[in-house]
Amino acid sequence: MKEYSVYYESFGCQMNAFDTEVIEGMMLEAGFSSNDSPADSDVIIVNTCSVRENAETRALGRLNDLSRHKQALIVACGCMAQRMGDSLLEAVQGLSLVSGPDNYATLPGTVKDLLESGERRSLTDMDGSVTYPLFPKVENRRVSRFLSITRGCENFCSYCIVPYLRGKVRSKGFEQIIDEINMLHSRGAREVTLLGQNVMAYNSDGVAFTDLIERVISGTDIDRIRFLTTHPRDIEMKIFELMATNKRLCPHIHLPFQSGSDRILGMMNRGYSRSHYINIISNARNIKPDLAITTDIIVGFPTETDDDFKETLDIVEKARFDSAFTFKYSPREGTNAYRIDDDVAIEVKEERLDILNRKIGGIRREILKKLEGACDEILLDGTVEKGENHFVKGRTPHFRNVLLQNGDIKNGDLVRVIMKELRNFTLYCEEDKRR
Ligand code: 5AD
Ligand code: SF4
Repeated sequence: MKEYSVYYESFGCQMNAFDTEVIEGMMLEAGFSSNDSPADSDVIIVNTCSVRENAETRALGRLNDLSRHKQALIVACGCMAQRMGDSLLEAVQGLSLVSGPDNYATLPGTVKDLLESGERRSLTDMDGSVTYPLFPKVENRRVSRFLSITRGCENFCSYCIVPYLRGKVRSKGFEQIIDEINMLHSRGAREVTLLGQNVMAYNSDGVAFTDLIERVISGTDIDRIRFLTTHPRDIEMKIFELMATNKRLCPHIHLPFQSGSDRILGMMNRGYSRSHYINIISNARNIKPDLAITTDIIVGFPTETDDDFKETLDIVEKARFDSAFTFKYSPREGTNAYRIDDDVAIEVKEERLDILNRKIGGIRREILKKLEGACDEILLDGTVEKGENHFVKGRTPHFRNVLLQNGDIKNGDLVRVIMKELRNFTLYCEEDKRR
């Protein structure tokens, strides 16, 4: 076969970023090469997201835009591909192949077929058992890597399209996970983030999530272990005990609460109350007082009143999040909430989002400001140019962003620093040369 080159783009969550690597690995195995520009590529693969309407609008726009590259065979995969199937082929004339998340193993063969035949195809069967191994051939020397441990979601939050697109929960075997982390580590990774739509649902041969974490701690030497994302209904306090006793398990949890109103939480089918959420946080902080918590919040869910929204603000005040992803409710066809009238006016959604973001930003600044003068260990994962100045950037164990004047320190180093000054939301640091 002629060596065809492939260009990749990924929208949406970390799971998609990971999947894009999986696809690249499979394509490399099959003899395709990778290319970092669409202009002279034979194949363009775009991994799409469906979570909110604007995610789809952006992906559609990008697919249409990439259709300019007439020489290339264009492939859409990911959640929007799964949701739209054949209708995506109709919507984007330049598109040749649509593939949902359970069909990636067939991509190399199908792409070869289509390059030869010029046909168009859509692959949207759902399998419910597929997990993908890590592919060593991908040239990714980043120090911080993602690794998916579960796929799929069965929570059926009423607003969310993901369970319909990503199917049943399945867990990767724990031995395979350990082997894959060791492989990443041997290739230069110092931090791994274990991924799943709800990692707390992990279960492989009776090994539950916290058991897996214990095995990762004892069975690997990777410097830092993180995980994303967790559901408050399933959270186990043991995870915070592990954080308190193991420095390598980073003291940060992403714990989406979505709404502070019990009535709205009920309509969202979240399976917990505001007081349950507040209890988790206070119990977790009893165990690990410096725990950093981040979250996801939706404003403007159908029927949300000012009073409901105030309850959301109240949780933000009580929980003191390090940061939060905040979203305007976006109706997704096929979900249960789609049947309820989307009755919160767009201006009201925007106003609530604005109030919420200002409150979150204020608290975030307070948390970061208190760190001025403190010491911590940071993992350097890249460089940043600011005018004349060269910085290396990194993260604290709590997942806070820091910048450090460039010295003889390099990407991948773990360095002790003194956090000198907060500018914006970034802590500027100096290397701590004492000791
Ligand atoms: N509208 C707005 N936000 C949504 N999310 C998921 N579905 C929707 C939707 N229909 C948000 C949730 C979730 C995050 C990944 O995206 O906050 O935690
Ligand atoms: Fe990720 Fe959800 Fe978007 Fe799919 S829909 S890419 S699972 S954020």
